[in-house]
Amino acid sequence: MQSYLEQPIKDLMQQHPTLGTILGEAGIGCTTCSLGTCKVKDILEIHNLDSGQSQQLLTRMGQAIYGSTPFEVPRIERKTAPARSSFCPPIARMVEEHTHILRLIAAIPGLVAALRRDLEGIRPLAEQALDFIRNYADRYHHAKEEDILFGYFDPQSEILRVMLQDHQDGRDHVRAVAEGLATGDLDRVEQHFLAYGELLRGHIQRENEILYPWMDRSLSMHQIGELYARCAEVEQGFGERPRTYEAFADSLQNI
Ligand SMILES: [Fe+2]
Ligand SMILES: [Fe+2]
Repeated sequence: MQSYLEQPIKDLMQQHPTLGTILGEAGIGCTTCSLGTCKVKDILEIHNLDSGQSQQLLTRMGQAIYGSTPFEVPRIERKTAPARSSFCPPIARMVEEHTHILRLIAAIPGLVAALRRDLEGIRPLAEQALDFIRNYADRYHHAKEEDILFGYFDPQSEILRVMLQDHQDGRDHVRAVAEGLATGDLDRVEQHFLAYGELLRGHIQRENEILYPWMDRSLSMHQIGELYARCAEVEQGFGERPRTYEAFADSLQNI
């Protein structure tokens, strides 16, 4: 079974679909991941499983793969990193930023319906929403992730590749929404606005529940101090604009 540790989980799940259920029961949502080709051994680390939990999960996976054929479960020596009671301040701030992005996303279906009723009347609001996505969600929040936080980790790791691809796919959707708005093509606006919301909602959930906890417990105290200082520098560079964007997203609840 040792060789399976190096295999992408998606490939294994395709060959043995019950693995998705087994991982799901262990609180590991590979079936809902858009692109993930994480290797089995990475999953054990990212989800912070200790030796006993790894052994248990690999045993269940082996049973699904080998059926009644005997197999040997590789011994994984891992201690779980000590859980911190909460995120370190710079990551906690990014989690808070997610709440404002999610509020904007929650308003997208209402915004699209309003555009269909009154394109010219609602166009300025839709453009403000795009401005929020481009400047707050992307240039401010995603830039902190891409230029600072993610830089402490292996850029070739599958989990980071997935997250960066989500950011890129989001930008493509936003470009398509802007084009649709400019030409009055509301079908295009609707398709890409809703797809953006769905993409980012899943992305944020994976960051809050999997990526950030893994990063938070992997960073040394020295790195956390440095991360704090570098994020504070970016935040100062943006001045009061993030607060203004957050207030805008929070005000969209009644559309
Ligand atoms: Fe992200
Ligand atoms: Fe994020």
